Formats: sequence, structure tokens, C-alpha cells
Amino acid sequence: MGHKGLHSAGVVCGLSLILPLLRSVYGDISYSFPEEMKQGSVIGNIAKDLGLDVGRLSARKARIDTVGKTRRYCDINPSKGDLIVAERIDREALCGKKASCLLKLDLVLENPLELHRISLHIQDINDNSPLFKKDIIKMEIHESTEKGARFSLDEAHDADIGENTVKGYSLQNNGNFVLNIDPKSGGRKFSELVLEKKLDRENQQQINLLLTAEDGGAPQRSGTVEIHVTVLDANDNAPVFSQAAYKASLPENSPLGTTVITVSATDADEGVNGEVTYELDHVLDESRNAFSLNQKTGEVRVNGPIDYEEESSYEIRISAKDGLGLASYSTLIIDITDVNDNTPVIFIQSFTNPIPENVPPGTEVGIINVQDEDSDNNRQVSCFIQQNIPLKLVPSIKNYYSLVTTGQLDRELVSDYNITITATDEGSPPLFSSKSVHLSVADVNDNPPVFEEQSYNAYVTENNKPGSTLCSVSALDPDWRQNGTVIYSILPGEVNGAPVSSYLSVNGDTGLIHAVRSLDYEQFRSFKVHVMARDNGSPPLSSNVTVSVFITDVNDNSPQILYPAPEGHSFMTELVPKAAHGGSLVSKVIAVDADSGQNAWLSYHIVKSTDPGLFTIGLHSGEIRTQRDISESDNMKQNLIVTVKDNGQPSLSATCSMYLLISDNLAEVPELKDMSYDETNSKLTSYLIIALVSVSTFFLTFITVILGVRFCRRRKPRLLFDGAVAIPSAYLPPNYAEVDGTGTLRSTYNYDAYLTTGSRTSDFKFVRSYNDNTLPADQTLRKSPSDFAVAFGDSDSSSEVGHYLYYTHANTKLQ
Ligand SMILES: *[C@@H]1O[C@H](CO)[C@@H](O)[C@H](O)[C@H]1NC(C)=O
Ligand SMILES: *[C@@H]1O[C@H](CO)[C@@H](O)[C@H](O)[C@H]1NC(C)=O
Ligand SMILES: *[C@@H]1O[C@H](CO)[C@@H](O)[C@H](O)[C@H]1NC(C)=O
Repeated sequence: MGHKGLHSAGVVCGLSLILPLLRSVYGDISYSFPEEMKQGSVIGNIAKDLGLDVGRLSARKARIDTVGKTRRYCDINPSKGDLIVAERIDREALCGKKASCLLKLDLVLENPLELHRISLHIQDINDNSPLFKKDIIKMEIHESTEKGARFSLDEAHDADIGENTVKGYSLQNNGNFVLNIDPKSGGRKFSELVLEKKLDRENQQQINLLLTAEDGGAPQRSGTVEIHVTVLDANDNAPVFSQAAYKASLPENSPLGTTVITVSATDADEGVNGEVTYELDHVLDESRNAFSLNQKTGEVRVNGPIDYEEESSYEIRISAKDGLGLASYSTLIIDITDVNDNTPVIFIQSFTNPIPENVPPGTEVGIINVQDEDSDNNRQVSCFIQQNIPLKLVPSIKNYYSLVTTGQLDRELVSDYNITITATDEGSPPLFSSKSVHLSVADVNDNPPVFEEQSYNAYVTENNKPGSTLCSVSALDPDWRQNGTVIYSILPGEVNGAPVSSYLSVNGDTGLIHAVRSLDYEQFRSFKVHVMARDNGSPPLSSNVTVSVFITDVNDNSPQILYPAPEGHSFMTELVPKAAHGGSLVSKVIAVDADSGQNAWLSYHIVKSTDPGLFTIGLHSGEIRTQRDISESDNMKQNLIVTVKDNGQPSLSATCSMYLLISDNLAEVPELKDMSYDETNSKLTSYLIIALVSVSTFFLTFITVILGVRFCRRRKPRLLFDGAVAIPSAYLPPNYAEVDGTGTLRSTYNYDAYLTTGSRTSDFKFVRSYNDNTLPADQTLRKSPSDFAVAFGDSDSSSEVGHYLYYTHANTKLQ
């Protein structure tokens, strides 16, 4: 079927082409026919065209030779005389791009040899498609290439000629390129790509285009090629940070190497152009020291000390650069959060030290300021001091405190305070700090010296050495230094009319009280002085104390015999009635002792007598009595030597002689003169007699009056004076007080008197003495006259003759 078709087509075609040739060429024969005719196809009937006898062709051995070619393209069918295609005739192979393709054949006949030239014009048919050299055209175009740039493309080839060769190109639609056909000379067509829209590698890295080349044949043939355009990168993209600003918060004191944040920037470029390096940009030195930025990773780390108090926030510009230096910027804001890392600091702004103890409560002693460098709660500081002191902190304007006293200070109780001021903030955990200040309390002279005792008693035995120590007083003053230095002095006063300073002195420093002179019990038994203790403050404070000085008796006075006159001076003679019975009172030895107590307790002894059995003497009364009735045989003149002893240790004594005359009549005593005295006393004696008589007269008159009064009162007189012994007052040493019959003491001194137990005799003992001035009025011995009277009354009952003298602080020696 195909065979038949091709054959018929060849014939049709051949006929239409051959006929004009046949007419133009003379002699030789030529045929024109398309290439690629099927083997066996008839090109023409040469026998007929040359006018040869078909029947003879075989006989004449007709054959076809190809001129210049070894291959036999055509053959002759001897039976029909047809020129047929013996082999494939490819115009492109025979003639290439030659516009006309002529194949020359010779028809050779033998018998006779006959040669006919046959020209075969091979006509082109469109049997070749345009063809590109390669299947893929690879191109690399920089994305930065400007619009309008041209890129030549390979030409497509078509083996055919003429219309059948490449006629045009077409490019698949795309966004970037258009095709430009350059009509170059020679009819060849070159195509080029023209960049119509800039490339963007980042958008499309690879562009595949399909280029089609078409020929002009019919049917038309085409060939395609793929153009692979690789868009080459240009550093047209700067790195881009993921955020316009990065914010991070970091606690202060974060350790080195702590990651704060990681910044990142991307660069759409590739390779070096897309390699981003990070950098801290234009930063102050401290920021650079504080943070480091990893060039590659963008990690921001702590690089140095982070102190909120120095820098609470960092604002750092960072840059990201790609390999070729395109940069972009961002801001890194790092807020540092406070950590309670600063202890409060205490400042003592002012401080009054020492502070006088007499400041009123509420006095400001100091001003304290506390500071904390942290912030917010970490900065809130409260401040306090310990509780147990009379001081407190009063909050004042912000963070200032006044240290004020809360009570009265007393240096003598607490002389200094260690004030511990503690400040604590409100952080968590809170931080403390404390400071100690030392406050001294200054002394004020607010304490007078105080004596250790309310009063002092000093006992001194009389006849002390001048300068001897009597006692010591001491007063304490708790104040400081001179405010507490005690100085003693004796306050001026009088003792017995003489300034007290003539008796006593006090050591101003030690308080030792010395006697200035020897003291005499017999002069006065006690006295008081006032000692003042004064401190050295200004003004000074003082206090007084009474020192009572009691002088104790020493047996320094021997008994003094008042009656009779002491031995050797006696001129008095007692008359003893001859009729005196045993036990009659005949006389009395009267003696006194200036001492007191035992030292003045006198006892009487007859140490020698004319007739030892006749008289006795009352041991304590001194009364001389007859021991038996007087008899005629008794010697008229009796002489007694009486010793009076006191009871002191050792005892002192005095002796006297008593002359007794046993007679009823003084005239019977002719030898009176003999018993008398020496002439030297005669004058004194006469004075004495006169005095005695006058005093006795006065005395008797006085007694009579008193007795009369008492008789009227009591009807019965209780005091009887049956003895006529009268003591002349002139005998009495001055200052000896006399007691009248009623016992009233006429003296500035009162004495306590009592009767010795066991003895009903009237012995008086001085047991104690008081100076009027020393005793309060109501403590004065209350011896009313009647008390004495009772005492006398009692003694009266056992004595018939009594004349008592009470001696006060007699000082016969001084007189
Ligand atoms: C105060 O402190 C000082 C020194 O630490 C110490 O010697 C003194 O006794 C203290 N005073 C008081 C009142 O605690
Ligand atoms: C003694 O007290 C006075 C105030 O009475 C004061 O001024 C003075 O400083 C005090 N002396 C001493 C040594 O403390
Ligand atoms: C102590 O006695 C003196 C003198 O009599 C007097 O001036 C002073 O005020 C007295 N002092 C006191 C504390 O009684």
C-alpha cells in the first residue's frame, strides 16, 4: 500500500518536473526527481525518451554507470526500459547545502557501443528537522545583569536547503527573556535572548526555557533545545535582622558567659554574600566589656561585671554584615534587673559625744543617714538600735534618723553606751549592716557627797595625845573627778566657849578626825561637831554629818578630901560627947573625886587610930561612928588617920587626919592649940571661921525656910538634919555645884544618880553624864526634885546626919 502510494506520488511528481527539463535539454536526457524515493521507483523511461528499442535493450546489455561515484543509485529495467531507483538517494548526503544537486549517470549500450548521458536533478524534500547542537544550552547569568542585555544562542541547523531549512525560532513564554532574531547576512538566522526583566536569584535561581527552531518546509519541521539559565548570585541582599530591636533582661551579677540573647540576621544571598557576621556597633567601652557578641552565632554573652548600680540598661547597636560588607543594624536593649547585692551603708552625720547627763529626754544626740544603692524594695532600708538603752531612732526626712534620748541619763548608773545601729533593706534575702558608736555620758555635778553613816560617834579616853586620831568619817560622791572629789571640813562651832577647831581637826582628804589637844573628861564629857563633806564641783554640793565625841574617863584624879582638911593641915577637932553611945555619929569624912564612875566611887578606911576599937568609918559613907559606948577610961584625944580611895584601876587615894576630943566642953581642951596647925594657917583659919559662920547662918536660915514650907506641905518633915556639920562653901572648888536640901541641882549639869544595890547607904554613882546641849530637851534626865527627895528620904532613914554634895564636872586641877 505504502509502496503503491510512494510510487504514484513519484510518478506524478516526476512527470511534472521532468517534462520541462526534457524540453530544455537536447541530446542528453535529464530527469528531475525528489530525493529519498523508494527503491525501485521509476524515474523515467529512458528507452522511450531516447528512442531506443525496448526489446533490444537486454540484448545490448544496457547498463547505468554513476559518474564519479562508486555507488550505483539507479538502475535500468531492461524489459521496460525504466530508470529505477536502485539505492536510497539522499540529497543532503550527495550535495549537502548545494543549492542544486546533480547526479550524473551514463547509459551504456553495447552492440554497438552507445553512450548516453543522463543528468539527474535531485530535488530536496523536507526530510530534516532543524537541529541544535546540544540538547541543553546551559547559561549562567548574574542576577545583577541589567535589563536589555543580550545573550546569543546557538544556531539550529537543518540539513535541508531552501525553504526547508531553518526559518525561525520561537521561545517559550517566560517572565524574564524575549527572543530576538538577528537577520544576519546570508540568510542565516541567529537568535539571542534579551533580558527583559531583571533576574532575581533569590526569587528564581534556575530558569528553564524551551527554544524551538522551525524550518520552512511543508510540512514544517521543528527542533527544540532547552536553555537552562542559572541565575548567578550578586550580593544584592543585606542581612536582615529578625527583629528591629531585641530586648532582653538580665539580672545583675550574672556570671561570665551567661547567654543573654541570641540575635539572628538572615541574608538571602548565598555563599560569601550570605555569610552573616555579627558585631557590636559603636558601643561605649563599658558595654563592649560587659557583653560579647559571637560573630558567627549571634549569641550575646556576659563578658564582664554587670552592675545594676552602674548601668541599669544597655542599648547597644548591633550590626550584621555579609561577606562583601553589606550591613544592617538592629538595637539590642538589655535591661538589668536589680539584685539585692548592696548592703545598706550607715553614715553618722553628726554625733554629740560626750553628752551631759542632765540633758532632757528627747535631746538629739546624733543624725544618722542610711543609704542603699539598690533600687525599689532592695533600697528600702529600715534602721534600728538595740532596745535596752534610753535612746531611740526617730525617722526623719527620707533615710535620715535622729538619735534621741528617751529618758534621763545618769552617768553614775551607766556611764557609756555602745549603740549598735542596724540597717536592713527589704530585699529578699534582706541584707544587714550595723555600726557601733560609743556614747559617753559626761558628768554633771548632780550628786552631793553622802556620808556612809548618818552620824558618827567617837570615843576617846581623856588625856589623849594631841594629834591622836579619834575617828574617821567618809562620804562618797559618785560623780566624776572633781565633781566626785570629797573634801572634809569641820564646820565652825563652839565647844565650851572655844572654837571647835581648837579641839578637833579633820584631814580634808582622808576624813580622819584628830584631836588638836588633849581632852579632859572632867572638863566636858562629850561634844558634837559638824563635819561637812563637799565636792569640788562648781557649784559644789555638800552634806553635813554630826560627829559626837565621847570622852571616857581615866582615873586621873585622886580623891580630894574636903573635910577634914588633908593630913597635916587639919585644924579642926570634933567634939565627941562623953555620953555618946555606941553607934553614934561623930563626924564624917567628906571627899570628892573629879573622875566619874568607879573612878569616883570612894571608899573610906581608917588606917590608923589611937584606939582602934572605938571608932569605925562607913566604907562608902565616910561616917565616923562610935563602935561602943565611951568610957571614962578612954583617952580624951583620939586621932584617926583616914584614907579615901577611889575604885579606879589603879586606884588613887588621899589621906587625912581626924582629931576627936572626947569632951562635953570645949574649954576642957587646953591642948587644943597643940592639936592645931602652924601659924601660917592662922590667918586663913580666921577667914574660914568667919566664912563658915556666915555661910552656916545663911544655910540654917535657908534650911529653916525650906523645912517650914515642907512641913506645911507634908506635915511631917522627912529630912532631918541632926548633925551640925556644915561645909563651908568656900571649901568647895569652884564649879562644884551645891545641892540644896530638896535635891534641886543648881547646875548646868544633871547627873543620873542611883543607889548601889545592896547598900542602903547613900552612895551616888555617876554612871553617865550628858551635856545639856547635846541632848534633846525631852531626853534630858527627868529628875524632878521629888525624885531626889525620895532618894534622900530613903537615905535619911539610915543616916542621921547627912549633908550631900553633888559634884559636877569639877576640875580642881584646872582651877
Ligand atoms: C563598749 O565597747 C567597748 C569596746 O568594745 C568595751 O570596751 C566597752 O566595755 C563597751 N561598753 C559597754 C557599756 O558595753
Ligand atoms: C563637773 O560638773 C560640771 C557641771 O556641774 C561639768 O561642767 C564638768 O564638766 C564636770 N566635770 C567633770 C570632770 O566631769
Ligand atoms: C551644812 O552646814 C552648813 C553650815 O551650817 C550649811 O551652810 C549647809 O547648808 C549645810 N549643808 C547641808 C547639806 O545641810
